[in-house]
Amino acid sequence: MARDSAASVARPLRVGVTGIGIMGSNHARVLAELPGAELVAVADPDTAQAGRVAEVLGCQAVSDHHGLLELGLDAVIVAAPTHLHHSVALDVINAGCSVLVEKPVASTVEQGREIVAAARAKGVTLMVGHVERFNPAVQAVKKAIEGEELLSIAITRVGPFPPRMSNVGVVIDLAVHDIDLIRWFTGSDIVEVQPQTSSAMAEREDIALLQFRTASGVLAHINTNWLTPFKARTVHVATRKKYVIGDLLTRQVTECFDYRPDGSYSMRHLPVAYAEPLRTELTHFLDAVRTGGTPPVSGEEGVASLEIAISCLTERVEAAARAKVRRAG
Ligand SMILES: NC(=O)c1ccc[n+]([C@@H]2O[C@H](COP(=O)([O-])OP(=O)(O)OC[C@H]3O[C@@H](n4cnc5c(N)ncnc54)[C@H](O)[C@@H]3O)[C@@H](O)[C@H]2O)c1
Repeated sequence: MARDSAASVARPLRVGVTGIGIMGSNHARVLAELPGAELVAVADPDTAQAGRVAEVLGCQAVSDHHGLLELGLDAVIVAAPTHLHHSVALDVINAGCSVLVEKPVASTVEQGREIVAAARAKGVTLMVGHVERFNPAVQAVKKAIEGEELLSIAITRVGPFPPRMSNVGVVIDLAVHDIDLIRWFTGSDIVEVQPQTSSAMAEREDIALLQFRTASGVLAHINTNWLTPFKARTVHVATRKKYVIGDLLTRQVTECFDYRPDGSYSMRHLPVAYAEPLRTELTHFLDAVRTGGTPPVSGEEGVASLEIAISCLTERVEAAARAKVRRAG
């Protein structure tokens, strides 16, 4: 459907969600109550699941995104498994609909770039669902470090194995969130990658310790795994003048500053807004669809984070190949 003309600006945007699993159900729930949006339908080949969600939310259920597109929508949320993002997003874009693609944007960088190019050619909005950026604690950290000279960032994202394993490991599934945060906090590209990954229990990597350097000189570290019995998500940022600690689950953000020669320092808890990150993300997406402005997480940014995540896996393989050649020599 064409972008709103000024005369029809107040019309609610007609939106659908494809892939009504864990994430898609959350998108649908939030959209159903978001002012300015009309949740027209949800799609899933598991029609019983789509039907259940549609009944609760009072919308239609169809079996796939082709069925959604027949309903004349302004935008579609793609929350199908990652390996389907590319084909589904291209169909949606080619139908002239704006699209929010869940993270990671695609399975490969080439696929991600094709999605970006298609959206640009069609003049539709493309946003990637890096929802952590809209976590109020993350936003409080970002505000606290604005204008400061950043030195290092350490992020921990650990927990137990997910109930249903997808076909990706922790780097693509979890670390990609934090790669996006590192790029966003620093406003800079990651130019050096030093990954260590291992598969302790699963076929894919389930532990990763990843180190980075950004073009602006910031050092960053991600500790992620599926082998911790409890969930933890923390961000620590060292700047020249302060140290900021954010707990992304309890949403407590603290900064230490005024370091004195006797070892004492000042500390304060920072105000953190109350908001559901997914609601904020979708509100920004719908605003961008309505205005034609750049969404807060562009397709290009989604591809850049995916590229770094994939390089963490390929760099390890290349390093192993180099070591083998050295041993053989
Ligand atoms: N932003 C986040 O924090 C976050 C969190 C979880 C998942 N995700 C992303 O969301 C996506 C889905 O993950 P999930 O955990 O909800 O998975 P899930 O397995 O719970 O749900 C996927 C759903 O897609 C459906 N599906 C399969 N083929 C389909 C098709 N052709 N068209 C439409 N639907 C189809 C499945 O039947 C299932 O209901 C993944 O890309 C994942 O990386 C993002």
